[in-house]
Amino acid sequence: MPDTNEAVTHAFWLAGREATGESTFEVTSPWDGRLVGAVSIPTEAQVEEAVAAAAAVAEDFAATPAYVRAAALDHVSRRLGERAEEIARLISAENGKPIKWARGEVGRAVSVFRFAAEEARRFNGGDAQRLDTDQGGTGRLALTRRFPRGAVLGIAPFNFPLNLCAHKVAPAIAVGAPIILKPAPATPLSALLLGELLAETDLPAGSWSVLPVPNDRMPALVQDERLPVISFTGSDKVGYAIKESVPLKHCTLELGGNGAAVVLGDYTSEVGLEWAAGRIGTFSNYQAGQSCISVQRVIADTSVYERLVPKIVAAVEAQVTGDPSDEATDVGPLVSEDAAKRVEAWVEEAVQGGAKVLTGGKREGASYAPTVLADVPADALVSCEEIFGPVLIVREVAGEEEAFEAVNDSKYGLQAGVFTHDLQTAFRAHRALEVGGVIVGDVPSYRADQMPYGGTKRSGVGREGVRYAMEDYTYERVLVLTGLDL
Ligand code: SIN
Repeated sequence: MPDTNEAVTHAFWLAGREATGESTFEVTSPWDGRLVGAVSIPTEAQVEEAVAAAAAVAEDFAATPAYVRAAALDHVSRRLGERAEEIARLISAENGKPIKWARGEVGRAVSVFRFAAEEARRFNGGDAQRLDTDQGGTGRLALTRRFPRGAVLGIAPFNFPLNLCAHKVAPAIAVGAPIILKPAPATPLSALLLGELLAETDLPAGSWSVLPVPNDRMPALVQDERLPVISFTGSDKVGYAIKESVPLKHCTLELGGNGAAVVLGDYTSEVGLEWAAGRIGTFSNYQAGQSCISVQRVIADTSVYERLVPKIVAAVEAQVTGDPSDEATDVGPLVSEDAAKRVEAWVEEAVQGGAKVLTGGKREGASYAPTVLADVPADALVSCEEIFGPVLIVREVAGEEEAFEAVNDSKYGLQAGVFTHDLQTAFRAHRALEVGGVIVGDVPSYRADQMPYGGTKRSGVGREGVRYAMEDYTYERVLVLTGLDL
């Protein structure tokens, strides 16, 4: 990765081979505005070629032996590991993510491809069902197997420029579904580097492309009937607009959240409160809060609130802000100055409505100081929308029931964290909370890449997490055998 102002122009990947278009766009660092690279933009004819190639290879790719797909996935996993430091630096440069978090992201992508290789080997073993439970079924047996729904259009966001691409590409290869990956305009370089590793495999031409198509040209691709599956990660507004525009397609939408961390009355020990505050302080600010499961709302029981809040403020203030390439930095810039200005405006709106700033509340360029707010009106944007910035609100509640109601009082439902030591409470939380994942003893931001991941309400439909995305990309087809001597 060049560390200079020299623009390296990156080709894109068209049906498995390198290609360039007729124009380029620039990728700059949100930290210091330095040019990180230029990216070639595919022409309409080149996009057409990639889609036609994906559609043409779909049947053969679905029939590729599992060992071939697994070997390709293992290869990518290994190569990501070998090039981990270089890739982490690229993520950090194009996204502004602190280097320590970028390293973590690469490590996760290594695992995603490894899980996909393992799942490819065991997926679709089939299931046999006897049908002679009624007289008409005598001598009949049903076998079910899963088949790809068809080629996938994967649309990835900027906040995890490598790993959220991995979550779209690896399961597609694992099931033998061609994929066209469209990275975010702010962070296409990690996805293009992933293409470099895919190009080292024997995957058939057409089975994958990485196309940095500008957003204003995406509606045509979304509408293309040769891409019957769409896997989108991004805002709820765009996600549901896509889904509504293609009612006959299968859409997986991983959308926003305003993640809550609940600290209940039984979590009273000093050690427990320090742990909760430390985790909240870190995970309201990781990726500068630009994660769909970052902690945005802390809902704490009256019995612990007064002791917990100063600890949270201390943990937030301990976050080291600054240059993302610095080893010590915990919190870097947001993806752009506009994004930081939006966060600033939302905090100002809350303050005008009566909120108190316990710490932070300042912007400098694209950076926003880690911020804690109290007494925030329920209808303030920072309460009810997804802030996607390093801002946390604290709220006091009386008891478990009120706490769970507060979590559910949101249009989103991605993940929730519940700090409790009580197993019964953990099960009640699991039943009561309208979210895709309940994390007990930790923040909502905990994600293991093999877990099902996705939301309820405006947080989306479908699930990622390697095996779950593989199920989403495929459908079950039954084969009934007749006249058997069972
Ligand atoms: C997201 O922002 O939805 C992804 C969070 C993660 O993968 O940790």
